[in-house]
Amino acid sequence: APDIPPANVKAHLTQLQSIATANGGNRAHGRPGYLASVTYVKNLLDAAGYTTRQQSFTYNGATGYNLIADWPGGDTSDTLMIGAHLDSVTAGPGINDNGSGSMANLEVALAVARTGFQPDRHLRFGWWGAEELGLRGSTAYVNSLTTAQKREITGYLNFDMVGSPNPGYFLYDGDNSDGTGAGPGPAGSAQIEQTLADYFTSIGVPTRGTDFDGRSDYGPFIANGIPAGGIFTGAEGRKTAAQVQLWGGTASTFDPCYHASCDTTANINDTALDRNSDAIAYAVWTLADGGTTTPPG
Ligand code: PHE
Ligand code: ZN
Ligand code: ZN
Ligand code: ZN
Ligand code: CA
Repeated sequence: APDIPPANVKAHLTQLQSIATANGGNRAHGRPGYLASVTYVKNLLDAAGYTTRQQSFTYNGATGYNLIADWPGGDTSDTLMIGAHLDSVTAGPGINDNGSGSMANLEVALAVARTGFQPDRHLRFGWWGAEELGLRGSTAYVNSLTTAQKREITGYLNFDMVGSPNPGYFLYDGDNSDGTGAGPGPAGSAQIEQTLADYFTSIGVPTRGTDFDGRSDYGPFIANGIPAGGIFTGAEGRKTAAQVQLWGGTASTFDPCYHASCDTTANINDTALDRNSDAIAYAVWTLADGGTTTPPG
């Protein structure tokens, strides 16, 4: 898998910050900064050779948008989807939540194009609207699919908050190995978790599980039996003393600017964003093409 250039991901975050600043300070559902964010991502993907589609939906009297981008080729009956919500709350620009996951995924998509990756599985990327209002965009997308179309999506990777300033490295607990929460994800979720875990093992970074608690866009996918996984670096919760031993940082909230006006480009841990971008690339390359690649150094 390629090494994802961290400077590229950061440059995209600077663009999202500028979009928010030029549009009343946010990129929220129904506000002009949201559609400008979609346009920014769409233009880059179109130029790279993706087949893109802007899907509209209505929520709370406002039009919302999902951006769906297909990479031509691969077995469409065995589609791997990679998603992130692109909307922010109204309070701020949403750079960690969720510029981070959105722009890491964008840079992985652009790396697919740059390298001419032609995996066995079909790749489809999704940027969701109105997650902050209750997973509205991802739910509208899944609900728009026929039963046959849902069956073609054989895996879903979700990235929501992957650059928290006081980061943890949490992987969605596909196998419920920690015995907490509602239980394991759909069959196949454990393989996704293990693939991401393999990457972190290769760079010597420990991980912990986080339950599928319904707080992000994997929700409508797992509700339809689609295996899922992903990374999360923490939101309003506090890092424990034991987690400080594991990951460094401080015994305080993972993201003190969660859903606040200070969730700006200053609210990013560059090391976490870099590691997680590379982990996403590793998972996409490994899961989409039979696990033939080795972890980058
Ligand atoms: N989805 C939450 C938000 O956008 C954050 C979150 C992500 C919480 C992943 C838990 C797990 O505010
Ligand atoms: Zn949020
Ligand atoms: Zn979020
Ligand atoms: Zn687990
Ligand atoms: Ca669990």
